[in-house]
Amino acid sequence: MSTEPATAEVAKPKFFLPDAALVHHGHIDEDHRELIAILNGLLAQADQRDMLDGALFRDTLQRLVARFERHFREEEAAMAALDYPDLAAHRQVHSSVMARVVGTQRDTANAAEVGAAEVHNLFNLALDDLLRADLGFKTYLAAPQPEDRIAASAARR
Ligand SMILES: [Fe+2]
Ligand SMILES: [Fe+2]
Repeated sequence: MSTEPATAEVAKPKFFLPDAALVHHGHIDEDHRELIAILNGLLAQADQRDMLDGALFRDTLQRLVARFERHFREEEAAMAALDYPDLAAHRQVHSSVMARVVGTQRDTANAAEVGAAEVHNLFNLALDDLLRADLGFKTYLAAPQPEDRIAASAARR
């Protein structure tokens, strides 16, 4: 876990993933924490009116896009290495999340200020991966693997 400045906002992050959403495989959970930390950092910049500076929002969004791209690429590689049967559908979720994040980039390209609601929308998009899609992979990881089943059936003979 990265060390964060001890500001009130960071001490009480707005967004978090419950323990039940941890996948416990490779560095997927660490990636998810980093993505959420970027969004919490963005939200911490909102002023009293819940508005963010447009240029700051765009810089952070650029970093978020790069982090999502790397996360999705590495997560798909981890899934492929384990013959995850739902990988094709999972790739589509990743493509859809990226398309919508890039849509937010396009929609806010010239804004002097951006509402904090955009950050909430980005968090909701992130949950399509972190929560809604990746828990399917967690379930697959927890299920008996074919070789285990074969070994168990051979042991019974
Ligand atoms: Fe995913
Ligand atoms: Fe993920």
